[in-house]
Amino acid sequence: MLKKCLFPAAGYGTRFLPATKSMPKEMMPIVSKPLIEYGVEEALQAGMSDICIVTGRGKRSLEDHFDVNYELEHQISGTDKENLLSDIRSVIDQCSFSYTRQREMKGLGHAVLTGQTLIGDQPFGMVLADDLCINLGGPGVLAQMAQLYKQFRCSIVAVQEVPEDEVHKYGVISGQYISEDLIRVENMVEKPAKEDAPSNLAIIGRYILTPDIFDLIHDTQPGKGGEIQITDALMAQAQRGCVMAYKFKGERFDCGSIEGFIEATNYCYDNLYT
Ligand code: UTP
Repeated sequence: MLKKCLFPAAGYGTRFLPATKSMPKEMMPIVSKPLIEYGVEEALQAGMSDICIVTGRGKRSLEDHFDVNYELEHQISGTDKENLLSDIRSVIDQCSFSYTRQREMKGLGHAVLTGQTLIGDQPFGMVLADDLCINLGGPGVLAQMAQLYKQFRCSIVAVQEVPEDEVHKYGVISGQYISEDLIRVENMVEKPAKEDAPSNLAIIGRYILTPDIFDLIHDTQPGKGGEIQITDALMAQAQRGCVMAYKFKGERFDCGSIEGFIEATNYCYDNLYT
């Protein structure tokens, strides 16, 4: 039912300069796999095999990564290194990839609007690949959310409790608890000061969105620095009772920050690679 997954991947990744001067943040590896490949695997596990990526200048390596590399594959064919490419080969075989470029980096909302041409008029998943989510031995976070979508047929955002002094980095929600891990969203504030935060439940980089989000983002006024966020559009959906917040099962690492990236590397090395 949910076939498409959008990956906004056009951001500058300034927190990782100089590494991100000429390399996309999404290509930074956690151990030996780029962040975006973890995200695509998670989408695939949720049944979304149409991968729609919003890229920008200097992001060509994203497209190359999800393509064959004949010379390299020929070179290592028949050697014990061949199996190092088995995961990415399997991803390439199972997915279709389409790309569009965001010409000006005017924020996540603007990146989502840029992706509309790839998504069309259907509900879709969205992954911010710099948030790495791992649920050892269980379904991935997007698969958990796709399951909920079947029941509620509305937008769903993944949320996590964060310390009070970190709420200013996130969109923060509050609402009515439907069960222990599910909240019908009534209020949402983008990057609030801790005194103004409606709770400590922060939206992380996993979403299921219904396509009316595009028109709603269109109507959103640019905020700080001319950036267009998606919080206002989500809030408009929430006012109609159409946004659920889900406290997911699993670990999430903010790999857009250096501390999160190191934590993710250690966690994945210990749990996935040894
Ligand atoms: P971030 O807020 O992490 O921004 O974007 P950033 O530019 O990637 O990183 P910093 O803060 O400068 O270090 C969240 C997500 O939205 C995408 C990013 O690629 C990331 O996946 N994004 C952001 C876009 O695609 N376009 C934009 O204009 C902004």
